[in-house]
Amino acid sequence: MLRTHTCEELNISNVNQKVTLCGWLQKNRKLGGMLFVDLRDRYGITQLVFNNERNSELCEIAESLGREWVIQATGTVAERYSKNKNITTGDIEIIVDAVTVLNRSEIPPFTIEDESDGGDELRLKYRYLDLRRNPVKNNLIFRHNLSIEIRNYMNGIGFLEIETPFLIKSTPEGARDFLVPSRMNPCEFYALPQSPQTFKQLLMISGYDRYFQIVRCFRDEDLRADRQPEFTQIDCEMSFVEQEDILQTFEGLIKHIFHKVKGIDIESISRITFEDAMRLYGSDKPDTRFGMSFVELNDKLQHRAFSVFNNSELVVGFVAKGCAHYSRKQLDAFTDFVKRPQIGAGGLVYIICNEDSTFKSSVEKFYSQEDLASVAEKCNAFAGDLILIMSGETKKVRKQLCELRLEMGKQLGLCRAGEYKPLWVIDFPLLEWDDETQRFYAKHHPFTAPKPEHLALMDTRPGAVLANAYDLVINGTEIGGGSIRIYSKELQQKMFSVLGLSTEEAHNQFGFLMNAFQYGCPPHGGIAFGFDRLCAILNDSDSIRDFIAFPKNNSGRDPMLDAPATINPAQLKELGISFKN
Ligand code: AMO
Repeated sequence: MLRTHTCEELNISNVNQKVTLCGWLQKNRKLGGMLFVDLRDRYGITQLVFNNERNSELCEIAESLGREWVIQATGTVAERYSKNKNITTGDIEIIVDAVTVLNRSEIPPFTIEDESDGGDELRLKYRYLDLRRNPVKNNLIFRHNLSIEIRNYMNGIGFLEIETPFLIKSTPEGARDFLVPSRMNPCEFYALPQSPQTFKQLLMISGYDRYFQIVRCFRDEDLRADRQPEFTQIDCEMSFVEQEDILQTFEGLIKHIFHKVKGIDIESISRITFEDAMRLYGSDKPDTRFGMSFVELNDKLQHRAFSVFNNSELVVGFVAKGCAHYSRKQLDAFTDFVKRPQIGAGGLVYIICNEDSTFKSSVEKFYSQEDLASVAEKCNAFAGDLILIMSGETKKVRKQLCELRLEMGKQLGLCRAGEYKPLWVIDFPLLEWDDETQRFYAKHHPFTAPKPEHLALMDTRPGAVLANAYDLVINGTEIGGGSIRIYSKELQQKMFSVLGLSTEEAHNQFGFLMNAFQYGCPPHGGIAFGFDRLCAILNDSDSIRDFIAFPKNNSGRDPMLDAPATINPAQLKELGISFKN
């Protein structure tokens, strides 16, 4: 070993010991005849001291050392005069007798400290330097600890971690696949898995009744703060279970995680149906850290001469408690907010509940005080409250009002960091109609089973069929999703036909699974959690990138590798691929 201790280990009990440390030079400061150097490694920082009077030659060498040089220093641990309470080694320093340069460094392109002066792109380009910074390093340590806790818990309840292949077959359902050409099979491609879905189902058929895997998944979709083209799932599947068993099992995992890594004891995870989530929050992933749930107001507001409301499918609003004092300017800002093209609402109506029990409203010329009082009563609004109302086509207006609710929640400080409201959203529809392509798509994926009591509806009203499918949502982010699966060939075939796949197409793409169903497939179901998202949410961060060692940027590029990149013609030829412009 080139060192006796790490840069975090030494304290007052080590005083007078001879030690050798290795690390990176974070910075040096000259104070009279003394030179102080902060030596950093993965564990922490230790102060080295060079005394000009004791050894001027050594002091000169130390002065010549640059930022981020890798050095080895031997010396004696001494108690500091002025202690630094901010670091664990703050009571001591090393009086150095010998120093060796293990390697030099170029001047780094940004400062490697907690607050860096480097922009996002620069830090991604030099990610190996960014990873030296505490905030990023701590995120990776958190990620590691979380993975250990998950593995321990899953192992403890009898789950086996089994790896599944990365080179698989492309399927058109779901997001776009990343494709990999096969040299040995010209003109043929593997696809990288979007998830191990079919493999975990095959493992159930093989009898591995409790499977999990912390596994990389690949999806060629547009990126957002909570989406990366390669990301990690905690993928799980169980046999001989019903939905309730799965919810209970993974509620256990979530509670364990919160207890172990956050010291928070979650009593139980609330549940809401998809239908109620949409009706009350306009979203299938509501942030339930705060209320402001929606109230439908058609019955209260469609009986006067206000044609905007009268011509709308849905009139819906929510109450902002104690916000009656909002100025005209503030209210106009909300109107502008919902009218932005990203939200696209036509307008926003307000009702202010005055302290003297009168009402002021942007539509008061259409409605009497009694009308407005009746709205306030339905909304449970009182003096001092503000009611915000929008109208339009049901699906659209709910989405728009949801955006406004979240914005108000943020502005009112209701999305509190450190507060966690996990929620099961259950009873998702099996299918979703797409107007553009005029066909049904699987809401979750095509292996999700309809609720047994809705089976008959598959032929008559497929759009009304519900599934035993569930999502885990925390603070408005979808952290996980799963379902009870189809396990008979006939039902799977029927599902594919509802999705518009011919028998032949279904056979070509999923024949292996349907064949396997014929060899004793147990009833089964499962769930997958987004591991990167879980890391981010547990740290109140919006960006999963901060929890991935080498992430891609917003355009799906790795600026460090400069990937993706063109490949040379010889390689293309070998793969039998030619591009024509
Ligand atoms: P689903 O597609 O819902 O389900 O994915 C499960 C969870 O994975 C996370 N996730 C992502 N995280 C980061 N970047 C992405 N691009 C990304 N896409 C998804 C989300 C999501 O909830 N096979 C099914 C699971 C099952 O049915 O068991 C599946 O993959 O947190």
